[in-house]
Amino acid sequence: MKDDIIQNQMFQEIKNKEIFKQAHQYTFDYLDNIFDRNVYPTDEALANLSKFDEEFPQESTRASSVLYMLNQYGSPATTATLGGRYHGFVIGSALPVGLAAKNLGTIWDQAPSMNVLSPIGSKLETIVEKWLIELFHLPNKSSAGFVSGTSTASLCGLAAARYRILQRNNWDINNKGLTNAPKIRIVTGKQAHSTILKAIGILGLGVDNIEWVDVDNQGRIIADLMPDLDENTILILQAGNVNSGAFDDFETICEKANKANSWVHIDGAFGLWANAVEELKYLTKGISKATSWAVDGHKTLNTPYDCGIILCSD
Ligand SMILES: Cc1ncc(COP(=O)(O)O)c(C=O)c1O
Repeated sequence: MKDDIIQNQMFQEIKNKEIFKQAHQYTFDYLDNIFDRNVYPTDEALANLSKFDEEFPQESTRASSVLYMLNQYGSPATTATLGGRYHGFVIGSALPVGLAAKNLGTIWDQAPSMNVLSPIGSKLETIVEKWLIELFHLPNKSSAGFVSGTSTASLCGLAAARYRILQRNNWDINNKGLTNAPKIRIVTGKQAHSTILKAIGILGLGVDNIEWVDVDNQGRIIADLMPDLDENTILILQAGNVNSGAFDDFETICEKANKANSWVHIDGAFGLWANAVEELKYLTKGISKATSWAVDGHKTLNTPYDCGIILCSD
């Protein structure tokens, strides 16, 4: 009985839309303010974050109070990435259509893990997969997985590499695990992004086993210093060094890797998009010769949500 009352109240709250109007007003106030505000929160805004320190509530809080609190003390404590004045890391300002579409998508309340759970989610994913393969000029047989960021995308790409290399060695990782598994070689440049090391650690491949290749003063792998490769090697390259923006020489290095039948993974968090721009495309020459590519939407494309993509031709 009590559950029914709560559920009815909840649906009533959705139907009368009052809290959405309140949130709507707050978002408009935020937009009115964000272009002139300090990019980084003021000391007062940071101090006010202590308002969120409270004991775990024993009673539920009114929805309008939750929204009030978020707006009153949360909105001033955001970093103003919106508005084009934030130049930290590789994050820019979201585009209007991205923000608006995200708002609509939030109200849709989808958990689109299967077509039957969300035909529109599934449809959009299928289309975006096709577009990305076309945009990046990747092999037609490639497929895409949508994850939370490039870190996770690389984790997935390297997991696929691990699976395939061990399978070629008659070792089914899914059934047998890693204990006593054949050795996999990992080759990467000395300025591989820290998230690559994290993925190698999580996958049990061992950061200490990495064969490091020297890089130039922009962080590019020096192609002449590449070790001999073989079919048990995962080679990890980079499209866009986070400090310098430099790209590895994919054409030369991938050719060598393909001859040896190595798996090539490219960490292209923000840089892979260069392949879609006529004037920048020379930077990514040869990327289609790799086997997996990690990229995301929240850096170069400025999606206002975490959006990683793993593309894989195997
Ligand atoms: C080259 C590179 N790889 C990976 C990442 C991690 O991306 P994410 O935060 O989407 O996991 C970054 C982040 O800046 C990056 O620049």
